[in-house]
Amino acid sequence: MLMNTLVFQLFRLVAFSTCIALVSALLDGTTGTRRASKLNVLFIVVDDLRPALGCYDNVTQYFTPNIDQLAANSIKFTNAHVQQALCAPSRASFLTGRRPDTTRIYDLNSYWRSLGGNFTTLPQHFKENGYYAASVGKVFHPGISSNYTDDYPYSWSVPAFHPSTQKYKMKKVCPGPDGNLHMNLICPVDVKTQPEASLPDIQSTEYAIELLRNISQQQQQQTKGSQPFFLAVGYHKPHIPLKYPKEFRDLYPLSSIKAPTNPDYPKKLPHVAWDPWTDVRRRDDIKALNVSFPYGPMPKHYQLLIRQSYYASTTYVDNLVGYLLSSLEKYGFAENTVITFVGDHGWALGEHQEWAKYSNFDVATRVPLLMYIPGVTDKKDQGHQKFPHINILKQLRSAKLDNNTTQETRRNRYSNAEGSETEDINIFKSKTTVTMFDHSDLKSGRLVCNNHVELVDIFPTLTDICGITMPPLCPKNPTEVRLCTEGISLSPLIEQISTNDTLADFKWKKAVFTQYPRPSDEPQENSDSPILKDITIMGYSMVTDKYRYTEWIGFNNVQCQGNWDDVHARELYKLRSDKMENNNVANDAQYKELTQKLANLLRKGWRHALP
Ligand SMILES: *[C@@H]1O[C@H](CO)[C@@H](O)[C@H](O)[C@H]1NC(C)=O
Ligand SMILES: *[C@@H]1O[C@H](CO)[C@@H](O)[C@H](O)[C@H]1NC(C)=O
Ligand SMILES: *[C@@H]1O[C@H](CO)[C@@H](O)[C@H](O)[C@H]1NC(C)=O
Ligand SMILES: *[C@@H]1O[C@H](CO)[C@@H](O)[C@H](O)[C@H]1NC(C)=O
Ligand SMILES: *[C@@H]1O[C@H](CO)[C@@H](O)[C@H](O)[C@H]1NC(C)=O
Ligand SMILES: *[C@@H]1O[C@H](CO)[C@@H](O)[C@H](O)[C@H]1NC(C)=O
Ligand SMILES: *[C@@H]1O[C@H](CO)[C@@H](O)[C@H](O)[C@H]1NC(C)=O
Ligand SMILES: *[C@@H]1O[C@H](CO)[C@@H](O)[C@H](O)[C@H]1NC(C)=O
Repeated sequence: MLMNTLVFQLFRLVAFSTCIALVSALLDGTTGTRRASKLNVLFIVVDDLRPALGCYDNVTQYFTPNIDQLAANSIKFTNAHVQQALCAPSRASFLTGRRPDTTRIYDLNSYWRSLGGNFTTLPQHFKENGYYAASVGKVFHPGISSNYTDDYPYSWSVPAFHPSTQKYKMKKVCPGPDGNLHMNLICPVDVKTQPEASLPDIQSTEYAIELLRNISQQQQQQTKGSQPFFLAVGYHKPHIPLKYPKEFRDLYPLSSIKAPTNPDYPKKLPHVAWDPWTDVRRRDDIKALNVSFPYGPMPKHYQLLIRQSYYASTTYVDNLVGYLLSSLEKYGFAENTVITFVGDHGWALGEHQEWAKYSNFDVATRVPLLMYIPGVTDKKDQGHQKFPHINILKQLRSAKLDNNTTQETRRNRYSNAEGSETEDINIFKSKTTVTMFDHSDLKSGRLVCNNHVELVDIFPTLTDICGITMPPLCPKNPTEVRLCTEGISLSPLIEQISTNDTLADFKWKKAVFTQYPRPSDEPQENSDSPILKDITIMGYSMVTDKYRYTEWIGFNNVQCQGNWDDVHARELYKLRSDKMENNNVANDAQYKELTQKLANLLRKGWRHALP
């Protein structure tokens, strides 16, 4: 395998010297000492985020200028898939670099060290290599999934930070039309009136920024080389409830929200593939709709309301990511920090009448994945701020004002703009009212990777980029092996793409793999997220350039093993002509041979698909 390739070491050198030059410049006249010989890592994970982002979709109008700006300085993976579309299993998988059948985490009720093995995690490995590792917000799935400690002290240098307002997740805090508070799914709020006058992601952002400021201050006081950091920041939105500052909804007037283009159940869908989105039904506003179990449909008007609030929640997170990244830059870390931005899995927004994750469909398994590597993926325009905070709400307010007032008033208003948000003035001024929401200049990322990649690849990739020991590829039975991975480094791909070499002869994975468990063939109350002892069927799914092929087979929940002789159902979607996975052709006579071929590949598994 092409790990730690020479060229990539060269990249590191470039990134390294850029960093030294910049840091020396910054410190010139203060201490005169060089510092930070290792790249820091900022690892951003967003809960239930599908690629509903400006940088991923130029058809729907999403307002995510800060993430788009990151994308414009990053390599953007357009076909990144999770290993299971549920929080705890997905996070346990990418944070250990191993797949669910190795971690044995398929539910929200187990800890991988007790069940799968005492595996070294991504942050732990950085910590053991001299990094200061800190967790802010939802990084590991909290609670029993990480032994009630977020795997501290193994994974982190300090106990994990959790925002205090997350405890209102299942509380009646959403104002309804009746004037009372409810436990709603759709929950735009006036933050000032919320308990503690804040929201979880606001608290996490504030904490992470404070941490960066402290690290920066400490580094300036030190005369010796300082400790690099691995900072993981986990955002809770757009996970349900869709609770967010209500101003963000104004960006998405209901009249602009479109229903999905494929609202129908896939043709010949086996029942076992269906997830009945019980967590959505449990919220007060949805409960009141009496949606039929298990197939729905959700009333049309509510479909649009859910989409509207999912988009608004995403823009709210984007705004916070903007604050975080502009602070990273302000404290002098933009040129010596690798940034990974990833969703833990997707979320169906009414495609196939589904409203959640809990499946093997593309909308659940494909996520945004961005990697910013200073000196490698960024735009080479020296002297410009890379991550100025783009304040979309201020732009919206000005647009409204613009409709009523003159240019002169507008300019006055802007020259009076207060505090640290003034940096977006230039962005505003350079645009007219008509185009100011058009951030298309940010959307065309310089580096785009369309190859299929998996989130298990993140662990080896980050170690490769940062020049610390790469975990070797796991042996067939990796239970006893503390440090190994079931992914591979993306560095050779990044290298190939960033040097603009052709990918024609480039050898890459033949397929990527994901899986989803079920308790029964027919959808029932616990089909979305069965606990381990109730799992009797596993849906093993594989995506290639042309196809998604899934087999639902009998599963032994003690040995954690599927029985390939006990096939309950098959799905085959021809992605070239059926990208949205609307038409299951697995049982069509004309595809018998193809299905057989794909079935063989699926049985051989991920190892056989490696380049
Ligand atoms: C979106 O981008 C794709 C690929 O660059 C392009 O083919 C398509 O025309 C664009 N669509 C719109 C609506 O701009
Ligand atoms: C989980 O935490 C408990 C209590 O703190 C501790 O006794 C136990 O050893 C931990 N489990 C593992 C596998 O580390
Ligand atoms: C698990 O691994 C950690 C180091 O990664 C070690 O400190 C701990 O003792 C191990 N626990 C067991 C039960 O082997
Ligand atoms: C930052 O440093 C201050 C002063 O030492 C301390 O009170 C605060 O808790 C620190 N914040 C974080 C997030 O570490
Ligand atoms: C839902 O069912 C309840 C009780 O049967 C009824 O009172 C209510 O009007 C129904 N709501 C809708 C939207 O049909
Ligand atoms: C400005 O006015 C136009 C025409 O009345 C309207 O279409 C547009 O939505 C308004 N813009 C904002 C941001 O309110
Ligand atoms: C603009 O004018 C409209 C109608 O005259 C008014 O409703 C709105 O509040 C005004 N907006 C601002 C930002 O002043
Ligand atoms: C990459 O190569 C293509 C075709 O040779 C060229 O059009 C494009 O400008 C190059 N891009 C970069 C970033 O060098």
